[in-house]
Amino acid sequence: MLDLLLRNCTLPDGRSGVDLGVEDGRIVALQPGLQAQAGQEIDGAGQLLSPAFVDAHFHMDSTLSYGLPRVNQSGTLLEGIALWGELKPSLTQEALVERALAYCDWAVAKGLLAIRSHVDVCDDRLLAVEALLHVRERVKPYLDLQLVAFPQDGLLRSAHALRNLQRALDLGVDVVGGIPHFERTMEQGAESVRLLCELAAERGLRVDMHCDESDDPLSRHIETLALHTHRLGLQGRVAGSHLTSMHSMDNYYVSKLMPLMAESGVAAIANPLINITLQGRHDSYPKRRGMTRVPELLAAGVPVAFGQDCVMDPWYFGGSGDMLEVAHMGLHVAQMTGQAAMRQCFDAVTTTPARILGLEDYGLDVGCRADLVLLQAGDPPEAIRLRATRLLVIRGGKIVAATPAANARLYLPGRPAAVDWRRA
Ligand code: FE2
Repeated sequence: MLDLLLRNCTLPDGRSGVDLGVEDGRIVALQPGLQAQAGQEIDGAGQLLSPAFVDAHFHMDSTLSYGLPRVNQSGTLLEGIALWGELKPSLTQEALVERALAYCDWAVAKGLLAIRSHVDVCDDRLLAVEALLHVRERVKPYLDLQLVAFPQDGLLRSAHALRNLQRALDLGVDVVGGIPHFERTMEQGAESVRLLCELAAERGLRVDMHCDESDDPLSRHIETLALHTHRLGLQGRVAGSHLTSMHSMDNYYVSKLMPLMAESGVAAIANPLINITLQGRHDSYPKRRGMTRVPELLAAGVPVAFGQDCVMDPWYFGGSGDMLEVAHMGLHVAQMTGQAAMRQCFDAVTTTPARILGLEDYGLDVGCRADLVLLQAGDPPEAIRLRATRLLVIRGGKIVAATPAANARLYLPGRPAAVDWRRA
C-alpha cells in the first residue's frame, strides 16, 4: 500500500501519462499504468510534475525589509550595501526570524523547497547568523535552508569579518562566502579569495562567493577563484555568484576564462532580476544588461543556476519566491529562446542548483525524495511562459501547499465561456 499515488502526470523530459508512487517520503514507482493502491490518490490530469524548485542564491537576513529605514534612491548595489549598513544596528532577532519565516511561507507556496541563503557575518553580535540558524531548524520539516557565511562589508576591509566568519562556521553555517570585488584593492580581493578557499578546504566545506558583481570588465576575481578551486581540489564544490563583470569583459579574455572555469569545476550563479536592475546604472545609452554570459558558459560546460537573490530589501523592491519569474527574466535577458535553451532555463531553477547545493536524493527517479511540484502547464517552456500556477506542492510525499488552477471566465457574446491559456 502506497502513501500517495499521483496519476497521469507529464514529466519535464516529455514523458506523459506517468504514475508516481510514494512511500515513506520517497519515490518508489514511476511508470505508466501503475497497478497499486494508495492512502491518497490524485489525478494529475496530464499536468507537468517537476522536482521542487531550488534557489541557489538568496539573502534571507534582509528579505521583506523594503523601506527600512528608507528606499534605495540610486538603485545601485553600493547604495544598497550602505542602506543595509544603516538598518543593521536596529535589527532584532525576533524581526529577522519573523520576516524569514514569512518568506519561507511564500517559498513553499511557490513550490520552492530548497534555498541557499547568504547571511551577513560583519555584525559582531552575529544576530542574523543566530536568527537564520534558528530558522533553518524551524523550517526543516518543509524546506532545506543552506546558509553561507557572507562578509558583506569585505573580509579584509571590515575589522572583524574573518574572525566573525569563522565563528559563524563554528556555529554551524554550511558554506564559505566572500565578496572580493568589495575589498579595498584588486590585490586584497585576490587575497580574500585565497584565504576563503583555504578555509573551506581545511573545513571540508563548499564555497559560494559573490564575485565580480560589477560592470568593471577588469574585475577578474573569478579567475583567482578558479585557480584556487583547482589548486585545492575543490572541484564541484565552488560557485561564483553574479559574475556580472563577465558581461563587459573583452571577448578574447573570456575565451580563455570560460574553459578555465570549466576545467576547475566552478559553477556560476546568475541572478537575472537583480543583475538587470542593479547593473548598468552608470551607463547612459546603450545601457548594459549586466547579467553574466549564461548560454556561453553553458556551452563551455560550466553549470549555471539562476537565483532570486533579493525580495523586498535594500537592493530590490520586487520578487515573491517565484523561481519561474526568475527563469522568465533569465530567459529574456540571455535571449535563450530556443526550445533547448528554454529547458536549460527551467533546469537553472531545479536540477542545476540542486547539484550546486549538493542536495541529496533530489530528482524524479525511484529512490529520490518526493519533493515535488505539480504545475498548471504542459512542459517546461510553457511553465516559464505562464509562470504556471503551483497546483500542488509536495514535501516528502505530503501536500504542503495547493493553489487553485488559474482560469478566467469570459462574458463575451459569441465566445467560449472560459479562457484556455494553453492554446494561445
Ligand atoms: Fe547576493
